[in-house]
Amino acid sequence: MPALLILNGPNLNLLGTRQPEVYGSTTLQDVEAMCSAHAPDCMLSFFQSNSEGALVDAIHAAKGTQDGIILNAGAYTHTSIALHDAIASIELPAIEVHLSNVHARESFRHHSYLSPVVLGSVAGFGAQSYLMALDGMKAHLASRTK
Ligand code: DQA
Repeated sequence: MPALLILNGPNLNLLGTRQPEVYGSTTLQDVEAMCSAHAPDCMLSFFQSNSEGALVDAIHAAKGTQDGIILNAGAYTHTSIALHDAIASIELPAIEVHLSNVHARESFRHHSYLSPVVLGSVAGFGAQSYLMALDGMKAHLASRTK
């Protein structure tokens, strides 16, 4: 059973009340419950932090304990070379997730420091983005073991 870390960055603890016109009314707890219901065949771990260093530490801790990472780094997506380096350092597949379609928003959201070091990205489907990323990760891991 694949072990997957679902990692959420800054301000995502406020989902449900934070700019619902952009991010919807689903809470982070709802998103995590949806992930668990969607992937009963995976061992999911969840972690959210508003701190860049705590996210780096969680990525490091995933090495050797997880099979993959699904990451919504929030605004750190657009600023963090440290998260880029952390993902590049652990040799685990990672998928970048965004609730909103970042490419249809302000230009400062168009660049991702994570995109070069992840398997792929899913953006714009609200909470469904996480479920699509889970499907992509499961398919990727299954194809590696064939
Ligand atoms: C986000 C998009 C980011 O630009 C923003 O800073 C977030 C959330 C998303 O899920 O759509 O915090 O990652």
